[in-house]
Amino acid sequence: MAETDQALPPSDQLAAMNLTDTVEKHAFSDRVLIRSIVGRPDGGAGLAGQRVRAGGWVKTGREQGKGTFAFLELNDGSCPANLQVIVDAGLAVLSKLVATGTCVVVDGILKVPPEGTRQKIELRVEKVVSVGEVDPAKYPIPKTKLTLEFLRDHLHLRARTNTIAAIARIRNALAFATHSFFQEHNFLYVHTPILTTSDCEGAGEMFQVTTLISESEKLEKELIKNPPPSEVDIEAARQVVSERGEAVKQLKAAKASKLEITASVAELNKAKENLSKLEERSKLKPGIPKKDGKIDYTQDFFARQAFLTVSGQLQVETYACAVSNVYTFGPTFRAEHSHTSRHLAEFWMVEPEIAFADLQDDMNCAEAYVKYMCNWLLDKCLDDMQFMAKSYDKGCIDRLRMVASIPFVRISYTEAVELLEEAVKGGKKFENEVKWGIDLASEHERYLTEVKFQKPVIVYNYPKGIKAFYMRLNDDLKTVAAMDVLVPKVGELIGGSQREERYEVIRERILEVGLPLEPYEWYLDLRRYGTVEHCGFGLGFERMILFATGIENIRDVIPFPRYPGRADL
Ligand code: 4AD
Ligand code: MG
Repeated sequence: MAETDQALPPSDQLAAMNLTDTVEKHAFSDRVLIRSIVGRPDGGAGLAGQRVRAGGWVKTGREQGKGTFAFLELNDGSCPANLQVIVDAGLAVLSKLVATGTCVVVDGILKVPPEGTRQKIELRVEKVVSVGEVDPAKYPIPKTKLTLEFLRDHLHLRARTNTIAAIARIRNALAFATHSFFQEHNFLYVHTPILTTSDCEGAGEMFQVTTLISESEKLEKELIKNPPPSEVDIEAARQVVSERGEAVKQLKAAKASKLEITASVAELNKAKENLSKLEERSKLKPGIPKKDGKIDYTQDFFARQAFLTVSGQLQVETYACAVSNVYTFGPTFRAEHSHTSRHLAEFWMVEPEIAFADLQDDMNCAEAYVKYMCNWLLDKCLDDMQFMAKSYDKGCIDRLRMVASIPFVRISYTEAVELLEEAVKGGKKFENEVKWGIDLASEHERYLTEVKFQKPVIVYNYPKGIKAFYMRLNDDLKTVAAMDVLVPKVGELIGGSQREERYEVIRERILEVGLPLEPYEWYLDLRRYGTVEHCGFGLGFERMILFATGIENIRDVIPFPRYPGRADL
């Protein structure tokens, strides 16, 4: 622990400042976090005089005083702010410290800088502990302002930038907020499978998981190295079997000794074994195994077709229908060929599922959860949010405040279509048609939330023809109890519904949409036995980050974006 030679202020004074004037080193490292110095309300001034070890990567560095000392702006990712570090020439070769991206670990004493400087505290170095050098001529992430597109080509280094590091902290905070919200409301976190044999959304956007291809490639290579036996080889082996059989027969007829007969039978068996091995190998064919002209999935890893999940909903419902309040939070996968700034092939989804609850409860939960996350960021990530406001989206903090404090608009799909039709009459041009029965396009959703209402809008009761089979059929028999939460900047943030809990109705719906019943028998069991009213929703986690930060492209808010044509690292 760092020492202080300052007298501690009286305890009432301390309480008023809400600061302790000692800085603690990190629990699992020799250094103190830069956040615990510059992240304090006093900017670190109260820590003057303390000895600390700091480590980080140089954001900017410059030699000063004709090379007698250097200023380094050090960042360790614990907060957006840097620690200013001053190193005298006697302690290190300064030219090796100043390049952007250099990693340095230093021991020093915290000092209040001279009047008129921006910093409230700086570190006067007494010892340079270690240096991870950078050749500035080669470093791919120089100090100059780099576009987010450029950084996408350097995924392994982009977390060194202020923007990607701030997004990482905001993402982390939102994940923590998610668990905190659901745990506070007595939801159980359930891990649903990534590998699945059920299609939840029925939209045919699943990535298939198979070992048939790699195994057929392996076999192809093996057969080239070790060609299969020819008909001639097999005939020769058959010949050996018949000769050995003949030999056994003759020995028996000649009443030979038991020993001789046993030895001869053993030879025969060996020949038979060899023949059957050759016959087996001769059947091996390169390529994917087929049966009746179709791919034979019984030979695949799971002895059936398998996929990456598009949603954990169907599986999490099994737990909701047993332990009542649950949520799952994990990666989901969609092989959509959409090149939009709102779609990824791998994205994270938060999916609560609530038993003994209807569509109204579902909307209430979704609204409370989104508000909770907004408040969480305002409370715990204000420095990063200020950075986003300064660099990307002036209004992002106000937007969080607005969403946290005002009730969401709730309109039915039918009302939404009427509003859009009115807008069209008033001269608004949309690329996609507006008509009852057609799904709202992203431009329609954004018009409603950004132009018409300028706040989050929940649209509910969609036509059954455009929604998934599991949504509860309304009494009008035309619409289902679905709801989408639309927010400014993003459009659809959440999709959810009350689930069809009536056995006969859901059975009909599965058939109506043209799905086979057999794979859903387990899902039907939840309705056959102890069925319960229940509902749930899915929040696209990356879309929440877009909404919060104002970042334009979803590829920049997930550490390792996957989209058509790209899956780096
Ligand atoms: O509306 P979706 O398809 O709903 C479901 O998957 C339901 N099974 C959820 C449930 O009721 N448990 O997807 C939910 C959300 C969307 O509102 C959107 O925010 C996000 O997931 N999403 C995507 N995010 C990024 N990339 C994609 N390709 C996305 N597809 C959906
Ligand atoms: Mg949806």
